[in-house]
Amino acid sequence: MSTLITGCAGGIGLTLTQKLLEKGEKVIGVDSFITGSESNMHSVFAHPNFTLISMRIEEAELTETLKDETLKIIYHLACPTGVENLSLIPEEMITSLTLGTMNILRIATDHKCPILLASSSEVYGDPQEHPQKESYPGHVLTTSVRAPYQEGKRMTETIGAMFYRKYGTQVKIARIFNCYGPNYSEKDIRVVPKFIKLALNNEPLPIHRDGETRRAFIFIDDLLEGFKAILEKGEMAEPYNVGCPDAVPIEALAKLIIQLTGSKSQIISAPPPEDEPRFRVPDVDKLKGLGWSMQWTLAEGLEKTIAFFKEYISQRDS
Ligand SMILES: NC(=O)c1ccc[n+]([C@@H]2O[C@H](COP(=O)([O-])OP(=O)(O)OC[C@H]3O[C@@H](n4cnc5c(N)ncnc54)[C@H](O)[C@@H]3O)[C@@H](O)[C@H]2O)c1
Repeated sequence: MSTLITGCAGGIGLTLTQKLLEKGEKVIGVDSFITGSESNMHSVFAHPNFTLISMRIEEAELTETLKDETLKIIYHLACPTGVENLSLIPEEMITSLTLGTMNILRIATDHKCPILLASSSEVYGDPQEHPQKESYPGHVLTTSVRAPYQEGKRMTETIGAMFYRKYGTQVKIARIFNCYGPNYSEKDIRVVPKFIKLALNNEPLPIHRDGETRRAFIFIDDLLEGFKAILEKGEMAEPYNVGCPDAVPIEALAKLIIQLTGSKSQIISAPPPEDEPRFRVPDVDKLKGLGWSMQWTLAEGLEKTIAFFKEYISQRDS
């Protein structure tokens, strides 16, 4: 029996792959490497219990490739991410989140195995209510630059709920709020890996507006515990927020990363991307009701993440 992980080269997918392999489980990873890096995967490539399928999740061929496998569970994580990619590869985001998700849900239905869908806090758009409860329907513009990702994630949930109602597919939904940790690709342009890489090079850290934009950051280990709680005890086709209930200003994040890396970087001001929401923070009572709680502070999680990038850069440059 194997676990299927789509988006296995991504920050979340690779960490999950490593942890399952350490536990002696078999993992089949699917990735097209559109935003993830093959070079990031050296820690799992040679593992006898790991199989890589280099393919887009939209491909019909994936069903055929997997037909003789016995799948225990599917973690559906594949999707192009990153704010800058909203204008570079929006079409790929839409097709991954709609056609790709349908393809993977059909595979879960055929194999009669549970599937965890990685949704996002972006389903709330620029929220008018704080903190966001799962019952808050969101505040999203259908035609905005962010819509391919935001509406795509909303569609992922819609398609998942439809598969549960129509085919009885065992669908679980995690709405992720800003996860960070080791294993993020060198190409990653999200705020935590971007700030760490800039700080390690003593380059300026750009913050938008007055730095008061706030985000809630969750360390990968706490996120994966959230996935486990949702899979074991969560309701079918019901979204669960997975995030840190305390948001930090981006300027405070930048200062903490400069301090923890011992960097000489300066903080500079930069124009915000279009439609950037000022503030998002999850209400996590629903997840806590499943027995979950956060274990990692931001400083502890950042220290582990910084150690990963230092090691990665020194190996790459040696
Ligand atoms: N990390 C976060 O803060 C966060 C927040 C909200 C939601 N999420 C969601 O969680 C999931 C995993 O996030 P991550 O941070 O690991 O992202 P990531 O970008 O690091 O990894 C995603 C992986 O999916 C692959 N991929 C993209 N489109 C594909 C396709 N069509 N076919 C095959 N592979 C494809 C990429 O190459 C990449 O390796 C994503 O769906 C993301 O939207 C993450």
